[in-house]
Amino acid sequence: MPIDSIGDHYGPLGTPPDDRRPRIAVCMVSSLDGSIAVAGRSGGLSNPNDAEVLRTLRRHADVVIVGAGTVRDESYGAPVRADQRVGVVTMSGDVDVAGPLFANGNGFLICPTDTDAPRGVEVLSVARHGTGIDITEAVTRLADISGDGIAQVLCEGGARLNGALLEADLVDELNLTVSPLLIGGAGPRLSATDSEVMQRFELAQLIVDADSMVFSRWTRHQRDR
Ligand SMILES: NC(=O)c1ccc[n+]([C@@H]2O[C@H](COP(=O)([O-])OP(=O)(O)OC[C@H]3O[C@@H](n4cnc5c(N)ncnc54)[C@H](OP(=O)(O)O)[C@@H]3O)[C@@H](O)[C@H]2O)c1
Repeated sequence: MPIDSIGDHYGPLGTPPDDRRPRIAVCMVSSLDGSIAVAGRSGGLSNPNDAEVLRTLRRHADVVIVGAGTVRDESYGAPVRADQRVGVVTMSGDVDVAGPLFANGNGFLICPTDTDAPRGVEVLSVARHGTGIDITEAVTRLADISGDGIAQVLCEGGARLNGALLEADLVDELNLTVSPLLIGGAGPRLSATDSEVMQRFELAQLIVDADSMVFSRWTRHQRDR
């Protein structure tokens, strides 16, 4: 359908599934053959409407979370919303906290208690779980950093962080843009997990723009949980 401003179709992220944790929405763009990166970055898959979807979802989010690999690969800048907190999930602590994401206090780290985190930046220390952090503890304790009222969390990837959320059954919503490109190669997929999981989602919204970009919004099938 023809669209004026795609952001108008992206309302608030909905209510959390229960009062123990915030609602978690993932936002990603992929190629037709499922790759989420071209030459190591997502930009080659995106277009202005996709960028607007991401900006709109960010506006609705109380906190953004993102994997350290994505922050390193995508050279993350400061968020548009001056008060937006962005939690960077890392095991190693290898994050450039001198960069623009951290310059005005937006960025903070989410890492295990025994990680040697860089100084001068806020840290949410959580337990380990397998080879990563305890992601359930992390999302339920975001208020420790950002204050009460954390109802909406936006996850901006990448594959490994998405995979951890998937394994913990924490993906309440997936905002997936499919770009009309076949990429081939060995680029990462939307999620990376050690073993297969199978979770059912329902289509909540579908929009196609003039570039044949397909914007879909999927919500977790409640009866399947
Ligand atoms: N198309 C899109 O929408 C989109 C969106 C985002 C990213 N991407 C692409 O995805 C690629 C990056 O994928 P990736 O799998 O490397 O992404 P990632 O999940 O952003 O980064 C992996 C790194 O993040 C940290 N991490 C992630 N999950 C963790 C967990 N559960 N516990 C502890 N640490 C965790 C670790 O950091 P340390 O190494 O510091 O320990 C890990 O090595 C890039 O090419 C990027 O451009 C695409």
